[in-house]
Amino acid sequence: MGLAYVKMAARWAMLGLLAACMASAAKESVLNMCMDAKHHKTKPGPEGALHGQCAPWKDNACCTAETSKGAHQDQSYLYNFDWNHCGVMPDKCKQHFIQDTCLYECSPNLGPWIDQVDNSWRRERILNVPLCKEDCELWWEACKDAVTCRENWHKGWNWTTGTNRCPRGSTCQLFKYVFPRPADLCEKIWSKSYKYTTEHRGGGRCIQMWFDPANRNPNVAVAKYYAQNGRDASPAPRAVLLLLPAALLSLL
Ligand SMILES: *[C@@H]1O[C@H](CO)[C@@H](O)[C@H](O)[C@H]1NC(C)=O
Repeated sequence: MGLAYVKMAARWAMLGLLAACMASAAKESVLNMCMDAKHHKTKPGPEGALHGQCAPWKDNACCTAETSKGAHQDQSYLYNFDWNHCGVMPDKCKQHFIQDTCLYECSPNLGPWIDQVDNSWRRERILNVPLCKEDCELWWEACKDAVTCRENWHKGWNWTTGTNRCPRGSTCQLFKYVFPRPADLCEKIWSKSYKYTTEHRGGGRCIQMWFDPANRNPNVAVAKYYAQNGRDASPAPRAVLLLLPAALLSLL
């Protein structure tokens, strides 16, 4: 075996090692991170004073206490978004929108579903977060008799007054007509931020909007599972790990 060949093999081995280290470091960070959006902290950490329904995230959160308060207010400073655009939203329904806001603003476990966007107000969003069946169905059940004029709440509003108003020509209708099935609500309302699943709470395969913090945050394990086994996970690190021993062997 010539010296040039040994040198080349060594170089490949080092490159492989480097790639494997970088891949595992990236995986570590995806499991505990905050998206680059309007109100998120740059890094997750403890937040002792999280408000109301956001309190389950207090051990490790991407939201500040201030943001958690905003999540509970009608037309808060967070987005000036009015839940009551077709008359007052019933409280039992609003609770789910508050919880949805808490998950979005506070969760450090959404890393596997963070996607780059070119919005004026944020650089990253969540896409296809696998929501637990119960979380989606209870949300739909609580809101089916509430009223709205839009299917996608990210787009199409009239913002000329500073808050979202129904655009001319749209009509206010019951949620159950705008969103015939629970999946329609969870997937369409925030342009596919969530994906409806048939996975159950506690099974470690879906993200819970609601959880009891006494049993720790169940979404930590879910993020880990999808970071390792997700459909969208890159096969490259595995290939590198398989090729590395061969590269090292070739040095002998
Ligand atoms: C938006 O709202 C303003 C103020 O109420 C109104 O004058 C305008 O016609 C509305 N435009 C649309 C497209 O709804």
